[in-house]
Amino acid sequence: MTEHERGELIILPDPSVLAAEAAQRFIALAQAAVADHGRFTVALSGGSTPRALYERLAQSPLSESVDWATVHVFWGDERMVPPDDIESNYRIARETLLAHVPIPAANIYPVPTIGGTAEAAARAYEETLIAAFGSELPRFDLILLGLGPDGHTAALFPGQPEAVRPSAALAAAVHNAPKPPPVRITCTYRLINAAANVLFLVAGTDKALALREVLRGSVDVARLPAQGVRPEQGALVWLVDTAAAKEL
Ligand code: 6PG
Repeated sequence: MTEHERGELIILPDPSVLAAEAAQRFIALAQAAVADHGRFTVALSGGSTPRALYERLAQSPLSESVDWATVHVFWGDERMVPPDDIESNYRIARETLLAHVPIPAANIYPVPTIGGTAEAAARAYEETLIAAFGSELPRFDLILLGLGPDGHTAALFPGQPEAVRPSAALAAAVHNAPKPPPVRITCTYRLINAAANVLFLVAGTDKALALREVLRGSVDVARLPAQGVRPEQGALVWLVDTAAAKEL
């Protein structure tokens, strides 16, 4: 995999500057998408790194730079917990962003994590995606992703089925995730790699070794699932801070 195929790498001094850069890119992509096709579809990432981005987008003046009535929000992965659970990616996004901007409730598509199995939730989410996009292979305007110290992204974990033998599904159930909670729903490579833009946000020294392996090491998607992110007709950008880049 060439350097180019691994995406554009942008190193920023610290997490705060990283969040500011990510916010500018979110806004620019939202404005361009709305100008081009009337709406902006984005899949949010979970974990702690995107929090600062969400908080920035929720604050004036940045919050006024987005026409939230045209924004449609999904999740790249979710933990199989109730939406008001502290571990819920939906809850983080609601508390840090969605509750503070005028986005219609109908434009928010949480993963249905209660009242069924993870497999049923994945199938239901797939149907939601297909219906919301009117396409069997939805093309997101933007997908936000993070990177785990083990090279995982979304809920695509090393050695797990979706990383070893990627399926044709758009969403998949995950069991025994090495990062708690163990049961999750993840978007698959098929969906991620159909996106127009994929933006990784990576901060902190604990990510440095994984980042070097993913960007500079030999290709082994089963061992380093983040390497499987290669938008077919889209842009791949890594926003990382100097701490995460220290091994590059
Ligand atoms: C999740 C995520 C996961 C996350 C990475 C990085 O729900 O946990 O989607 O893939 O992005 O584990 O997490 P941090 O940003 O907390 O380091």
